[in-house]
Amino acid sequence: MANKEPVIQVKGLYKIYRLGQERVRALNGVDFVINRGEFCSIVGTSGSGKSTLLNMLAGLEKPTTGEIIIAGEHMETKKENQLVAFRREHIGFIFQAYNLLPTLNAIENVALPLTFQGVNKKTRTKRAVELLKLVGLSSHIKHKPTQMSGGQQQRVGMARALVVEPEIIFADEPTGNLDSVTSEEMMQLMRRVVYEQKQTLVMVTHDDHLAGYADRIIRIRDGKVISITEKTEEERRKMAESLRAKAQEKKEKVRGEQKG
Ligand SMILES: Nc1ncnc2c1ncn2[C@@H]1O[C@H](COP(=O)(O)OP(=O)(O)OP(=O)(O)O)[C@@H](O)[C@H]1O
Ligand SMILES: [Mg+2]
Repeated sequence: MANKEPVIQVKGLYKIYRLGQERVRALNGVDFVINRGEFCSIVGTSGSGKSTLLNMLAGLEKPTTGEIIIAGEHMETKKENQLVAFRREHIGFIFQAYNLLPTLNAIENVALPLTFQGVNKKTRTKRAVELLKLVGLSSHIKHKPTQMSGGQQQRVGMARALVVEPEIIFADEPTGNLDSVTSEEMMQLMRRVVYEQKQTLVMVTHDDHLAGYADRIIRIRDGKVISITEKTEEERRKMAESLRAKAQEKKEKVRGEQKG
């Protein structure tokens, strides 16, 4: 990336929970920077502080001390109503549980966030269909959640998170309910979407292999950053190329199956 512009900055972050007499140092002095347009994964074992960190980045929880600067704004000093407005404007979430509404079909589920923004129905539907196509679900746009597999529902959840074109996307174990093949596909898809839409993606995972799709890998243990690795320009280019080739291969395979 030629111009590196920090979009997330974390400085001296601590989160200490009190449990009776005990103190749990969920985050114990964390510092890092994530640049615009990056896919960053945060990796660590269970209890290492990943969700605590992500929740704090998203302004869902307040740090004990430290600074979090997102898109130039300090999160730790914002009031609740300011945080709500900030999230609505800048942030999208992909959750482990995809929380789709059972009575709505795929288009309606994906279009829902646009309803809250007052976008008209025709535009909403058009955008939702575009996003469903992007996540490979063109043939399931009228399906309701119960008529789709877990992986398909997860992709609808992803389309819904992306439809409002958030600057920053936070994902906590987004492939937690998927088998390894579908997880791999989701990763490739997220990788591609971030490249194409120039968004910033921060993904929490305990899976080293999936974390490898990211441009930047932040490893945490016991609430501390133990390493930060960054892909070189050359490595990023190679990954982008190989994913394009894979997507193309898949397209051709589908085409072949339709013909035969
Ligand atoms: N509300 C809370 N009160 C007290 N302790 C908490 C609270 N939330 C988290 N913790 C503790 O903080 C530590 C980090 O928890 P966190 O949920 O961030 O881990 P994690 O890395 O997301 O784990 P997992 O992979 O299992 O989701 C753990 O020791 C946990 O028990
Ligand atoms: Mg967690």
